[in-house]
Amino acid sequence: MEKIRNFEQVCNILARYERNPNSLISILQAVQAEYRYLSEEVMTFVASSLGISPAKVFGVATFYSHFTLQPKGKYEIKICDGTACHVKKSIDILDALKQHLHLTDKEHTTKDMLFTVETVSCLGTCGLAPAIVINEEVHGLLTPETAVQLVKDIQKSEALANE
Ligand code: FES
Repeated sequence: MEKIRNFEQVCNILARYERNPNSLISILQAVQAEYRYLSEEVMTFVASSLGISPAKVFGVATFYSHFTLQPKGKYEIKICDGTACHVKKSIDILDALKQHLHLTDKEHTTKDMLFTVETVSCLGTCGLAPAIVINEEVHGLLTPETAVQLVKDIQKSEALANE
């Protein structure tokens, strides 16, 4: 799991917004962009730095769906389960990826923190159904096999990069 060893980046973000509690949402967005999720630790730090209660920060973070309170993998895989993708068996792709990455219904992120697998509603690329997005890049007309191959390619390049 990615550890937040210090809050230097958070301090920079807070300074950028002049520690203004009215900028809470922008501050949380910037913090999430930096750390990929909002940990309890970081939200408590933001609250005390802004002089507001942690409950207020948690409330905002849980209210807006684009904030995530769980750590995410380096590669976020979103499998479209909108109507067009669903009828083209997007669930088979989900199952194949979960099986390949040893994920369960409760565990969406791999232990090595490389992959998070989630479903989303229509990506707006129905002509490419079934489609998935890996870190903002759309891959369409997939089969379970080609989707798993995409992940294998990433695993291979990550392994090479770590050699
Ligand atoms: S339903 Fe999957 S892209 Fe529209």
